[in-house]
Amino acid sequence: MNPFQASIRCTEEVDVNIFTILQRIRKNKMKSKILVTGGLGFIGSHTVVALLEQDYDVVIIDNLSNSSIEVLGGITKITQKTPEFENLDLRNKDSVIQFFEKYPDIDGVIHFAASKAVGESVENPLLYYENNLNTLVYVLKQLSKKEEACFIFSSSCTVYGQADEMPISENAPVKKAMSPYGNTKQIGEEIIRDTCKVHPGLKAISLRYFNPIGAHPSGEIGELPIGTPQNLVPFITQTAIGKRERLSVYGDDYPTGDGTCIRDYIHVMDLAEAHIVALKRLLEKRSENNYDVFNLGTGKGNSVLEVINTFEEVTGKKLPYKIADRREGDITAAYADTNKAHNVLNWKAKFTLGDALESAWKWEKKVIEKENKES
Ligand code: UD1
Repeated sequence: MNPFQASIRCTEEVDVNIFTILQRIRKNKMKSKILVTGGLGFIGSHTVVALLEQDYDVVIIDNLSNSSIEVLGGITKITQKTPEFENLDLRNKDSVIQFFEKYPDIDGVIHFAASKAVGESVENPLLYYENNLNTLVYVLKQLSKKEEACFIFSSSCTVYGQADEMPISENAPVKKAMSPYGNTKQIGEEIIRDTCKVHPGLKAISLRYFNPIGAHPSGEIGELPIGTPQNLVPFITQTAIGKRERLSVYGDDYPTGDGTCIRDYIHVMDLAEAHIVALKRLLEKRSENNYDVFNLGTGKGNSVLEVINTFEEVTGKKLPYKIADRREGDITAAYADTNKAHNVLNWKAKFTLGDALESAWKWEKKVIEKENKES
């Protein structure tokens, strides 16, 4: 960028900030109020912390179906602030209407609330279509009545299926979903795109996460899987702490360097930060389109065995594992092309796989400490 371009960009940013400030004064408030649905969940709670640290007003909706009220205490401990909290089920349309009547000054929504277990979605598809799609429609319906509103959607790299090319860019085709869960993410994105087309005041971004892992470095919040973990990292930490006998590595005969599957593991702290960056872009009206999608990953693929080795390196713990059969529905490899997020959002993941695994381990140790105290 030459100095002339830089000065234009700088002027534009000043304009945007003045515009935002004037708008806030008109609305008689200086802070944006953000609703975080599923705000006590894994990614939701870390994003709430990031929002509070950046001085947003936050209201959380969570029905505690896959989370715990204690997470609110963790958020308060980290930020010294307690967000407003509504224990509400978004499947109840009337409750959603009443919520938006009670909080008429919501400027934006970050929508995490959804079910996410692939296997469960195959067994109980209607639960997934109701939990993930009805709720989305009800929230969007209220939001689209506003003159202006911003919406961030929790999507997934699962929308790409097994992509033909690596790294996966946002232009890669969305392939037929492998599960009802994956289908809800594809349909969810379409619902938002169609709604934005006819409501220009509604500005939305879908964030396609690769594999979120890790925990807040304080160890106060993290992932709390109910029952046996389905995802790799919680299974690793629970095995290392002695809750599980050994990890099963699902297949070592894939066409990869060491035969195990490759994924793009991203620290939840990086993910949380990306939500703030995307939200700001919408609030400050810097987006060219009123609907857009971004990949959120590190751009680096790691195999299951590499994850195990890195875990052993950073924690000094030996991890018992065995090679097992392939897991049905697993794809060989998925890692992100991060160029769009970098160029447009000016966001890049900062943490390493080792950082993320270290934080997940710290969190697991806190969880067991607490469980031992309680028993
Ligand atoms: C899974 C979901 C994906 C979802 C994501 C959310 C499936 C098929 N996909 O992704 O749709 O968006 O979680 O976080 O469930 N592994 C083992 N042993 C284990 C667990 C996992 O070897 O006990 C391997 C898997 O084969 C895979 C890798 O670890 O290669 C990552 O698995 P996981 O954490 O479940 O994530 P994904 O399958 O990538």
